[in-house]
Amino acid sequence: MLACLPTAPLPRRRHCLIALARGARADSTDAEAIDLGPDPGERRRMILLNDFKRQWQDVRTAVSAAVERVGASGWYILGREVEEFERALAAFTGARHAVGVANGMDALEIALRACKLEPGTPVLTTPLSAYATTLAIQRAGGRPVFVDVDASGLIDLDQVKEVLHERHEVRFLLPVHLYGHTIDLDRLRELVRDGRATIIEDCAQAIGARWKEQPVGSAGQAAGLSFYPTKNLGALGDGGALLTGDGAVARDAATLRNYGQSSKYKHELAGLNSRLDELQAAILSGSLERLPAWTERRRAIAAQYRAALRSRCVTVPRSPEGSHSVFHLFPVLVDEPTQRDDLSRHLAEAGIQTAIHYPILIPQQKALPPGSFDVLRPLVMAQRFASCELSLPIHPYLDAADVDRVIECVNGWDPRC
Ligand SMILES: Cc1ncc(COP(=O)(O)O)c(C=O)c1O
Repeated sequence: MLACLPTAPLPRRRHCLIALARGARADSTDAEAIDLGPDPGERRRMILLNDFKRQWQDVRTAVSAAVERVGASGWYILGREVEEFERALAAFTGARHAVGVANGMDALEIALRACKLEPGTPVLTTPLSAYATTLAIQRAGGRPVFVDVDASGLIDLDQVKEVLHERHEVRFLLPVHLYGHTIDLDRLRELVRDGRATIIEDCAQAIGARWKEQPVGSAGQAAGLSFYPTKNLGALGDGGALLTGDGAVARDAATLRNYGQSSKYKHELAGLNSRLDELQAAILSGSLERLPAWTERRRAIAAQYRAALRSRCVTVPRSPEGSHSVFHLFPVLVDEPTQRDDLSRHLAEAGIQTAIHYPILIPQQKALPPGSFDVLRPLVMAQRFASCELSLPIHPYLDAADVDRVIECVNGWDPRC
């Protein structure tokens, strides 16, 4: 195992931190080496949250072939590539229908609209997610309402049950399979068994995950996927898809994504321009074949982290029992909010990039004006995640030595707690 690096002299540390600051976005493509070794001038590769340059070496032949195929076809919008990708995606996810759209947020907005969300209808969701989850509700005309999350960071299903019982006007649920974990799908199904509420599952971070034997996205009326480049199945740009078992929802979604056209120049709905490009579909079809191997690698890294992380002040939140997670992210929690920057700096000095998912709870965002939403329970656990969570690198192109280095560095952190 690689030893965690001793504190380096200041000039080299500064070099490292500057390099990390430049590559600090979660979608960083900056995989340069930095001066970090014990000997002056020793170069070590930075460990990034996403290593797109390594990924490119793996996928470039398939991507180049996809570009060539689409270019030569002379057909660039809503053609055979999108149709074939939708078919392959439906088979992979176990959904009856898949509809390719421009991004994950649109997939959720279109799902809500295709499921006939009425203006002002409360949509129960989580305060801990990408803002896009709630923005989709706002854009579809719904009223976001929030309850707390559980110890895994997923919407608290006990509180969901209480709210559905207390407030009959809440007829839509938008749970998020956060971090690549699956929410208990048996409980979700049970919660809406009386047919009063519609579930739209946000599977942006969870493609390929299962609850026991049930695929994620199968408990609701529809589900949204994102192919943003950092996602487990990432495009070379934006992309998304809606999954559904309902033919009418699939038909409306296909109409909504294309200006609301049911056929050429016949507009039945006030739709969007939210088409998945032929080019992205062709690239995604190639990457979908690799997804099972990528997911296995993520699972192996997560198992390695779980077995070996043992810092005094760092907790690994448990995965829900029954969830076959796909580990889009690997969140850990520090004991005290004041320790998070220290751990993140400690890892940055060793050339390890981290991120926070998510530092600001959705109901605290300015884009959600007072009076336009409801918080129905104290957000105690969600605030703990917002204040104490740090995501460690987890992606298929980390090698064993990278993972060892992260473990050694976390375990070697002296937080003085
Ligand atoms: C949980 C979640 N929902 C929705 C989205 C939105 O996806 P996209 O960026 O493709 O619009 C994302 C992506 O950031 C996400 O992580």
